[in-house]
Amino acid sequence: MSGRGIKAKARRDASTFAFAFTAPLPLTLYVHIPWCVRKCPYCDFNSHEARAPIDERGYIDALLADLDHDMPLVDGRALQSIFIGGGTPSLFAPESIDRLLCGVRARLACVPDMEITLEANPGTVEQGRFAEFRSAGINRLSIGVQSFDDDLLERIGRIHGRREAIRAAESAHDAGLANFNLDLMYGLPKQTLDQALADLQTACDLEPAHLSHYQLTLEPNTWFHRHPPPLPDDEQIWDMQEACQRVLAEQGYTQYEVSAYAQDGRQCRHNLNYWQFGDYLGIGAGAHAKLTDTSIQQARRLWKHKQPKAYLQSIAEHSAHGGDTALLPEDASFEFMINALRLNAGFTESLYRERTGLGLETIMAILQTGLEQNLLEQDGETWRASSHGQRFLNDLLGLFAPEKGNA
Ligand SMILES: C[S@@+](CC[C@H](N)C(=O)[O-])C[C@H]1O[C@@H](n2cnc3c(N)ncnc32)[C@H](O)[C@@H]1O
Ligand code: SF4
Repeated sequence: MSGRGIKAKARRDASTFAFAFTAPLPLTLYVHIPWCVRKCPYCDFNSHEARAPIDERGYIDALLADLDHDMPLVDGRALQSIFIGGGTPSLFAPESIDRLLCGVRARLACVPDMEITLEANPGTVEQGRFAEFRSAGINRLSIGVQSFDDDLLERIGRIHGRREAIRAAESAHDAGLANFNLDLMYGLPKQTLDQALADLQTACDLEPAHLSHYQLTLEPNTWFHRHPPPLPDDEQIWDMQEACQRVLAEQGYTQYEVSAYAQDGRQCRHNLNYWQFGDYLGIGAGAHAKLTDTSIQQARRLWKHKQPKAYLQSIAEHSAHGGDTALLPEDASFEFMINALRLNAGFTESLYRERTGLGLETIMAILQTGLEQNLLEQDGETWRASSHGQRFLNDLLGLFAPEKGNA
């Protein structure tokens, strides 16, 4: 039977869809800093070349005003983590990050030993800067290395070379920030398997607590999409992925998500909250939020103006900061799956109920279809993508896609 035929049979019963949240969801905070030294040709993040000196003070003021605006939506919940991403947050002075974090702490309760991550580009971290970030309250770094090969780094338009990348990781250790992540990409223009393995070995030798290993994708609206570089073919990419997964396992990094590997106890708590469909505030240009009000059984998504100028103007004028839409119960299970099925551990029935406010019975027919197609595995209360499902994740997720007008 074709996948489509099975999907039609597995359709949901719309009448069973109503939220019944029982407890407040965990809450985290994402802060977006939208500027970089130079735009990388593969990058479709909301990042803009800083052509003039950045008014850091003005931007931090705007972030805190943005947070003030969203405060009524979080109802006294404590923050579990903060992630300052970009863009290139390490462009900001440690004093600015300090002012930001003091402002957040003055407004929101925080759990003890909260994870606070800052993204850093090796081209922007002069000697001593990580120690100052640490004094400001940062306790985790995510360093965008991408590769340690000077030729490859040049081919993907990075502002740094191998030496700066290594130095950044060493500086993190020196600053007492051993809890750091390295972002690496594979499938780079003309990259060979040996080069991908050499990059990974260099990364492991630097002893990061966490490694994010992304396949380079050509995203619409990027320079590389308009001018595609010569990439390795699908078979070469598959070989790289398999070989790199083996090396990472041998070196003590356990894969817990499609692209994320960590030493014991060093999974990224902030990203885990997204993948487990928790709530999050988002402040800064283009930042997104998902917030659930269990007292009125409502969930909503919010977003802020994407262009830094429009964002700053909206804050200055106290006008609408972006947009806002209700998260519909019939979309919540699909959105949960998009996230939770990326995790190697999958999800439990109780997590599904807690985070979507829905019963698993509403999607039982789809889960059964996933089992029959060998895309899903069940182990008691736990559901996860099978190894076949991990390889064909889009097919698996397609089973959960709401059929608009038919649901
Ligand atoms: C928002 S960037 C933050 C890091 C920092 N801005 C830097 O580049 O040094 C997060 C990571 O996403 C990954 N990334 C960005 N564009 C990508 C693409 N087209 N394909 C795969 N990974 C990508 C890169 O590894 C990058 O470090
Ligand atoms: S430095 Fe990072 S965020 Fe900025 S353009 Fe490059 S990949 Fe994107």
